Amino acid sequence: MSDPVFDLYSTGIDADPFPSYAALREHHPCYWSDANGLWILSRFEDVNAAAQDWRTFSSTSGNLIDELPGRTGATLGTTDPPRHDRLRALAAAAFARKNMAALIEPTRAVATSALAQAREKGTFDFITDFSSKVTVGLLFQIMGLPESDAAEIRRKVVLSISTDKEKRGRNEEQIAAFRDISQFITDEVEKRRVAPRDDLVTALATSEIDGDRLSDREVVLTSATFVMAGVESLSSFMSMFALNLHNYPDARRRVLADWNLLPLAIEESLRFNTSAQRFKRVATKNVELHGQTIKEGDRVALAYGSANRDWRKFRNPDVYDIERRPQGHLGFGAGSHFCLGSNLGRLVTQEAMRVFLEAIPEYHLAVETLTWTPSSNFRAPVAIPMGIGRA
Ligand code: HEM
Repeated sequence: MSDPVFDLYSTGIDADPFPSYAALREHHPCYWSDANGLWILSRFEDVNAAAQDWRTFSSTSGNLIDELPGRTGATLGTTDPPRHDRLRALAAAAFARKNMAALIEPTRAVATSALAQAREKGTFDFITDFSSKVTVGLLFQIMGLPESDAAEIRRKVVLSISTDKEKRGRNEEQIAAFRDISQFITDEVEKRRVAPRDDLVTALATSEIDGDRLSDREVVLTSATFVMAGVESLSSFMSMFALNLHNYPDARRRVLADWNLLPLAIEESLRFNTSAQRFKRVATKNVELHGQTIKEGDRVALAYGSANRDWRKFRNPDVYDIERRPQGHLGFGAGSHFCLGSNLGRLVTQEAMRVFLEAIPEYHLAVETLTWTPSSNFRAPVAIPMGIGRA
């Protein structure tokens, strides 16, 4: 077979990476992408092993393929143990102060209000009018950030993770957007230093283990990670889930008939087409894999989205089977960097989508083709124009 020329910046990969992933898994499981200057690991066993082995596959240069300047070394996705252990313990302690069950009602309230406004429009965009309103609204509540800034910060989060195809990676607008998010949070942290509040930013700023606390930079960058993950990963995931329930009407009907299937359908969506498709590591030593040599210092993309479609791990992997119970899927990563917000992500998706589906059990896409956000890490449509009922 000829070289597949896998290019993370191609619009085809944004729209549908799965046929290319399959070609990589079968014929080039350890693939050097000349176009992107990195290796791509695509089989479950390899991706899972690399995610667990931080000594060999390090995150210290950042886990974004087009890493944002100023993010490395001081937040969870850009450090290795022991520094990562310390940050993770302090961040997890702050997170644990939020009672998950207490978030059910606020999630349902934010979702109900977003839905009421969306329905008034007739045709609406599931992302702008629902999923991102719910996730931004809730995250801003948890973190204690001013709601008036929510829409603008969400716009900047999307910009900060959008890669520019023409410029092959990062661009000025993306960097400026991340700088603005960091400045916005820096100002909020300063306010908490003067007057602590009952919110997640204060909890991070005051989190303490054996006298050790996060530095100001660590509080800002960890808060920024929460905002970016909470706003974008979650909103994009919820959007992919709504698309799956549209594309697989039988699955949707079964969920509507038995709400116990809703968490199972969410878990299968995390496997089937998660929004967090690929994350980066850098090799700390030479690694021999499938006849190739990954050299010390080489960049390596862990294609979680591909690993989740590997038949060696999941039977009939291209089938969306809501009763599959996909044990060990990599939708939230694996190893020491396993998503800190996984339970929050599941809970918010479940509660918000229940509100949505109870009100709108039948919906259709109001466009023929979706446009996809250009991103080397993530996968989500730019918008999902939707109408209520059958087309
Ligand atoms: C369903 C939505 C979400 C998905 C699909 C998702 C996915 C992921 C994945 C795949 C990773 C691993 C990154 C790597 O390997 O380098 C990760 C890490 C992380 N996620 Fe999420 N995430 C979601 C929601 C959230 C939420 C709601 C939060 C918090 C508000 C969050 C916070 C984090 C943090 C802090 C990390 C870094 C953990 C570490 O490096 O120790 N995520 N997420």
